[in-house]
Amino acid sequence: MTQQSEDIVVPAAAPTFEPSERGSEWWRSAVIYQIYPRSFADASGDGVGDLAGITSRLPALATLDIDAIWLSPFYTSPQRDGGYDVSDYCDIDPLFGTLEDFDRMRAAAHELGIRVIVDLVPNHSSDQHVWFQEALAAGPGSEERARYMFREGRGDNGELPPNNWQSVFGGPAWTRVTEADGSLGQWYLHLFDSTQPDFDWTNRWVRDQFVDILRFWLDRGVDGFRVDVAHGMIKADGLPDYTPPADGASMGGGSATLEPGISDEPLDDPPYWGQEGVHEIYREWREVLDSYPGDRILAAEAWVDPLPKVAKWVRPDEMHQAFNFAYLETPWEAAALRTVIDESLKAFNDVGAPSTWVLSNHDVVRHASRLALTSDHLQGHGVGPLSEGKPDNAVGLRRARAATTMMLALPGSAYIYQGEELGLPEAIELPDSARQDPTWFRTDGERYGRDGCRVPIPWEAGAPAFGFSQTGKSWLPQPVDWATYARDAQTGVAGSTLELYRSALALRSEHGLGLGTLEWQDGYGDDVIAYRNGDVLVVSNAGTTPVTLPSGADVLLSSDAVPSAELGPDTTVWLRA
Ligand code: GLC
Repeated sequence: MTQQSEDIVVPAAAPTFEPSERGSEWWRSAVIYQIYPRSFADASGDGVGDLAGITSRLPALATLDIDAIWLSPFYTSPQRDGGYDVSDYCDIDPLFGTLEDFDRMRAAAHELGIRVIVDLVPNHSSDQHVWFQEALAAGPGSEERARYMFREGRGDNGELPPNNWQSVFGGPAWTRVTEADGSLGQWYLHLFDSTQPDFDWTNRWVRDQFVDILRFWLDRGVDGFRVDVAHGMIKADGLPDYTPPADGASMGGGSATLEPGISDEPLDDPPYWGQEGVHEIYREWREVLDSYPGDRILAAEAWVDPLPKVAKWVRPDEMHQAFNFAYLETPWEAAALRTVIDESLKAFNDVGAPSTWVLSNHDVVRHASRLALTSDHLQGHGVGPLSEGKPDNAVGLRRARAATTMMLALPGSAYIYQGEELGLPEAIELPDSARQDPTWFRTDGERYGRDGCRVPIPWEAGAPAFGFSQTGKSWLPQPVDWATYARDAQTGVAGSTLELYRSALALRSEHGLGLGTLEWQDGYGDDVIAYRNGDVLVVSNAGTTPVTLPSGADVLLSSDAVPSAELGPDTTVWLRA
């Protein structure tokens, strides 16, 4: 059964979070837990998670020693892209509740010492947003059309799209509209689904609307924003044609490699990602945030490379954090990991920002499966049929536990995606009829998309929908064997993944690892990642043969349920240094 929200006392709406006074810079070492609201906890019983469900489960999250939650979008939306298609930025979709439910959730989180970061989607709105509907109605040349990227088509009769850009979800990035008189008319740009028209961020009117939106949520007491597609809002002048490299990352900065952190050389930029003009937008937003009390943050989702370029998003007058996708995309290989960790610390440190670390989110294959796959399946937006067969869940989970244990001792800020603390694998075998990601539809089933990492998470092994909803409904079907991953089946069980996360997070905070410094340790061999952070020695074996540990070492934590004097393959330990 879903826990009742009466479990916690919800204080009257408090506009700011007292512990995060200006200058505390809590975000430098924060552990931020990502909630994908559709799939976290469903209090209404309709099969889609909601804000009241989140509120009811906050006490469970508070046992994890997290600093903040980041919620993927809960705004009014036709849900064509899981809510990343917003039709009202200042209201809650009825699927998720009401603004009062948000206030209760925010207040309850603050009461528990957890900050609340919301997701802002500024690159595009839903086509159902009143601004886009007005733009369609007003016709070519109007002020309303100038809010979005409308252009005339090429060809004798405008029958060809304005350029050759492709949507991240597959197919052309342009759709032609039918004008009010019934004739075929202009085209509009959508880097994602055709229901997600891109704004024209050179237009001051658009900028002003978003400053108001920031203020709306800051006034409601949020502690920050995760900024969606923060590398995409400005497009190169003239919208020149661009053909990405065949094996390039679909969201990345024109990279031809899945290991963007490995190279220092700037790679060719697509004319729609990582344009210089985006930075002045964030400088203006930073001023808005700084005008509020408390330490409120901006975190960039910027799929650009190499890392020194990502660091531009977190220069002192821009954002506070940027996701480290170079780290996420690095395979479970010691040399590659050492390199990306070095490059991350250097690149972010050069601009005075903390590095971030992340292994999973709602766009990529869960790392408990990904780490047992070969690298051509790393791209969440591009996941295709698994030609190499299904990943071995036991291998994947063992590596995931080792990888997370290694990550959580790194200095900087770490992100956790809901369910990874349960060791959830990707739900690879979803029936095709259940799939909902626009990628699946836009590629005619060639790419599965991201539904497999978005399946509602299990709370209670013996309850309907494993405790996700009291009615047993679930918007994506949960694999039948997920009872073993349920939170209650792992709580208090020595060696469970949940207890591993709990211990790691408690030790991380106790030893101040987030604010520490990393010193590499030699002598363990090429397949080992070994570093010291303060009084903790981390040894991670990414190889295939056991590694001898210092004799008499005091084991603080082990990713293997049975730690021993020898460190087995795919295992990480924290030793008292
Ligand atoms: C970001 C989101 C992703 C969404 C896309 C379009 O990459 O993380 O889920 O589909 O933007 O908004």
